[in-house]
Amino acid sequence: MRIGIVGLGVVGLSTGVVLAERGHEVVGVDIDQGRVQGLQCRRPPIYEPGLEEALNRNFERMKFSTDYSSLSDAEVIFITVSTPTIDGRIYLGYVFDAARKIREVARGVIAIKSTVVPGTARKVKEITNLKVVSNPEFLREGNALHDTESPDRVVIGSDDKEAGDLIQELWSFTKAPVIRTTTDEAELIKYAANSFLAVKVSFINEIANLCERLNCDVNVIARAIGLDKRISPYFLSAGLGWGGSCFPKDTLAITSFARDVGERLRIVEAAIEVNQERPFRALKLLKEVMGEVRGKTVCVLGLAFKPNTDDTRESVALKVVNLLRQEGAMVIAYDPKARSDVEMVTLDECITRADGVIIATEWDEFRGLEPKLRGKPVVDGRRVLDPAKMGQEFRAIGLGVR
Ligand code: UDX
Repeated sequence: MRIGIVGLGVVGLSTGVVLAERGHEVVGVDIDQGRVQGLQCRRPPIYEPGLEEALNRNFERMKFSTDYSSLSDAEVIFITVSTPTIDGRIYLGYVFDAARKIREVARGVIAIKSTVVPGTARKVKEITNLKVVSNPEFLREGNALHDTESPDRVVIGSDDKEAGDLIQELWSFTKAPVIRTTTDEAELIKYAANSFLAVKVSFINEIANLCERLNCDVNVIARAIGLDKRISPYFLSAGLGWGGSCFPKDTLAITSFARDVGERLRIVEAAIEVNQERPFRALKLLKEVMGEVRGKTVCVLGLAFKPNTDDTRESVALKVVNLLRQEGAMVIAYDPKARSDVEMVTLDECITRADGVIIATEWDEFRGLEPKLRGKPVVDGRRVLDPAKMGQEFRAIGLGVR
């Protein structure tokens, strides 16, 4: 099939390379000229494991352009542009701009993969007069290609059976269960899924707070409750909270959307509140082991919002950095991939120069650092260290004083 993709971020590129790998002809369009030029030279604009290799393998079936007219003969056009939250509300301008430009040149079926509030697909249909399917994406950064090829489920929201069938056929190679719904339902499924996961993490983080008071270990609690199949062990790691390009913006978007239609999502609102407290928690624990941080050097290990990505969007680590600076600390940092305006040093230098250390992202290379860290004030914000191997000046999320 001839496939168009509008918006060449992690979702657009993953969709593109995975479909090209299945033999489809893919044209990717983006308004960012630098991004398109890079891709034309086989350079992806983001770090994602396997993406560059997949791009190279399938390069002959992939074209990149800033010109929408290259979508003219696409049978399916995926909209994968970003949908940021501005002032607590979803901004759909990029989706509607894309729709208007598509209308001028193309006749194919539109499949919206961007996360959008219910009613958006119906509006895109009004704008374009084309068939519009809602086909939300559930991929995790760092696992984007795997999740696109082997999703837990494929959700296809369509008010037009034929258009829905076409998109279902396109993803049939995944062998994933298919859920056919209305477009509104498909849009809501995506928010319900992300909100539930955010709630789950905030829940275990509140149990972690309690554990710190009681000298219990949240990991023990999580393991025990996770064995109940109704709860499941996934997304139960206590830490400094959730960040990234999805959960923070999606939880805000759906709670404000719900209020707009006259309902409240109180549990999701509480999850957001719990999450906003997490960086303060890290600082509180650090002060317990090193006193005031003013004038001292603090090393933050990990800046990315989670391991295996260079993405720092809404990263809790950066919020911790800002808090430390506000408190008058001098901050240095090490991250294997991510960069920021903090002074970046090597892992060894970071540890040697620091008066205190906060582990903010659970990169694998931070495991086993106990011998180097022992004796320094350390806060393990992501539970990567073995507390038994650490000394007195050690605190970990959800552990209490041992
Ligand atoms: C998420 C969803 O998983 C994905 O389905 C959706 O399409 C986009 O948002 P992603 O943002 O890539 O994907 O990150 P994810 O791996 O889900 O982690 C989100 C955040 O939650 C991270 O900051 C992570 O550190 C945190 N988290 C996750 C925890 O603190 N504890 C956990 O147990 C799991």
